[in-house]
Amino acid sequence: MTDNDSTTAKSREALPLDIAALRADTPGASKVVHFNNAGCGLLATPVLKAMLDHLNLEVEIGGYEASAARADEVRHFYTEVAALINTTAENVAFAGSATHAFATALSAIPFEPGDVILTTRNDFISNQIAFLSLRKRFGVRIVHAPDTPEGGVDVAAMAELMRTHRPRLVSATHIPTNSGLVQPIAEIGRHCRALDLLYLVDACQSVGQYPIDVDEIGCDLLTATCRKFLRGPRGSGFLYVSDRVLRAGYEPLFVDMHGARWTAPDQYQPARTAARFEEWEFPYATVLGCAAAVRYARQVGIDAVARRSPALAGTLRQELAGIPGIRVLDRGRQLGAIVTFTVDGWQPQPFKAALDAQGINSALSLREFAQFDFTDKAVDWCLRLSPHYYNTEEELGRVVAAVAGLRGDRR
Ligand SMILES: Cc1ncc(COP(=O)(O)O)c(C=O)c1O
Repeated sequence: MTDNDSTTAKSREALPLDIAALRADTPGASKVVHFNNAGCGLLATPVLKAMLDHLNLEVEIGGYEASAARADEVRHFYTEVAALINTTAENVAFAGSATHAFATALSAIPFEPGDVILTTRNDFISNQIAFLSLRKRFGVRIVHAPDTPEGGVDVAAMAELMRTHRPRLVSATHIPTNSGLVQPIAEIGRHCRALDLLYLVDACQSVGQYPIDVDEIGCDLLTATCRKFLRGPRGSGFLYVSDRVLRAGYEPLFVDMHGARWTAPDQYQPARTAARFEEWEFPYATVLGCAAAVRYARQVGIDAVARRSPALAGTLRQELAGIPGIRVLDRGRQLGAIVTFTVDGWQPQPFKAALDAQGINSALSLREFAQFDFTDKAVDWCLRLSPHYYNTEEELGRVVAAVAGLRGDRR
């Protein structure tokens, strides 16, 4: 089975999406052409309402009292995320960002000098910096698996590196921030499981875009943010912690009074569940907004989303590639809803600003976001467009026309 099986090609039936209704639920859809869902998706009305209702309750009865009154709804965050990624509520921890979740997970691994972290050339910038920081402090070794000629990690070569190095940690980013590449994380996971290696997956750009099934991926830990393709609020994410990891007693370096009980003056007892990886203080309105966003995404239907969002991106990629002076950069066996390209003659900020001026939201990726990938592609920057299911074909046409119109104006 290829990784495509774990994402797009499942034989589940997906109903066609009612795009007009979904846009009516999305106040921003009538204000901007939002092609920056890989940055932050547009909030849907039920998500905004969940947050505002809670903030109003805090105003009326007090912050602690409001969270107590909404305890059942807060629990829905865990059950919704669990249903989204095929696990149980006890395996889910809330996090203020994916990066925080990732750092907390890393802090639970007792690295020793010489331990190997095996990763890919397309793992997220902050993850790579975290590995370098671990190298500086603990003397771990970082090994990057090579890519295939078509783009994306060479799984066979990575498996060989697993056998040679017996890494303390294998880490893979499902979809990088800087290109449309979808990495074969379930194929990597099968090798990790066969060799009983600890496997951490960054699913930031894929959650809400593709079905995510932690059992099928075979990961021990998985991190995600809620604000991107899940369309949740800013300042939210989650960490999945497998039973294997919980049973083995992994705990973050700093556990607080929520993650552990202080059982005697010189003892503490970590929580039995993934709550071990959380902190006591919670942004409750945000947590409730996340619960609403995940519920909304599941109601829309992740299978239908997984068909539409990457397909819109595929059309966009094809049309941009036909414009002289545009170089589309996405490479790999499977490509998702991120489109990246360069434009002859333009500097990054003025080009983005010119699209901003036409009401088109986009993002820039710079070389330092992707040291390996951009070196391989010999580029210093690219523009990133990331459509989602609620974008329309008409918007796509406007974006293509805008890029084509700017192409000649060198700046
Ligand atoms: C692939 C990937 N991983 C991790 C992150 C970090 O997420 P957060 O900003 O929630 O920490 C991002 C954000 O762009 C990302 O694209």
